[in-house]
Amino acid sequence: MSDGLVLRPLGAADFAEARVVADGWFGRPVGLTMHRLFFDQLGPTGLRAASVADPDLMLGVLLGFASVADPALAYIHFVMVDPQARGTGVARALYHEFGQRMFAGGCRRVRTLAAPTNGRSLRFHESLGFVGTFASQYVGPGQDRIVFERALPFAPPA
Ligand SMILES: CC(C)(COP(=O)(O)OP(=O)(O)OC[C@H]1O[C@@H](n2cnc3c(N)ncnc32)[C@H](O)[C@@H]1OP(=O)(O)O)[C@@H](O)C(=O)NCCC(=O)NCCS
Repeated sequence: MSDGLVLRPLGAADFAEARVVADGWFGRPVGLTMHRLFFDQLGPTGLRAASVADPDLMLGVLLGFASVADPALAYIHFVMVDPQARGTGVARALYHEFGQRMFAGGCRRVRTLAAPTNGRSLRFHESLGFVGTFASQYVGPGQDRIVFERALPFAPPA
């Protein structure tokens, strides 16, 4: 729990609820970026956020895991927050909880990607102390990304 939020690992049963809101919350089709393997196979290292007042109502989702190639690296594949709950610290709480869990498991860095055009995501990651590096065509032709990375753990909330 974190500041009025209930945070818990994801499971296969969360896929349908997350999938039905994802395109609307992103403002564009997310396609297979939200593949159900992140719930079925990697769910336990991801997180779901809800408010203490209404734990059944999903407010945010983080899909992430520890890298198999580099066990010191935690990787956040995807985060989304209900537009009505934005700016209230939901994503920050998801990142802090994920970072704490990954640090406890041996990770010392966390990485994530953002599209150079996603200003909201760029500002969010910069505010959390991530440092971004521009990577041309990182996920395919015409698909540039900012590769964000920072050390773990996050500073505890003030
Ligand atoms: C990016 C996103 C996850 C942020 O979620 P959020 O819950 O609103 O973020 P938080 O409230 O935890 O914000 C934490 C900090 O990030 C910064 N921040 C977040 N959104 C911001 C915005 N739109 N503009 C400027 N700064 C912002 C702020 O500094 C904020 O700190 P503050 O509360 O002290 O001001 C959310 O906007 C979202 O779901 N966007 C659509 C999906 C997406 O683009 N995901 C990222 C790519 S996978």
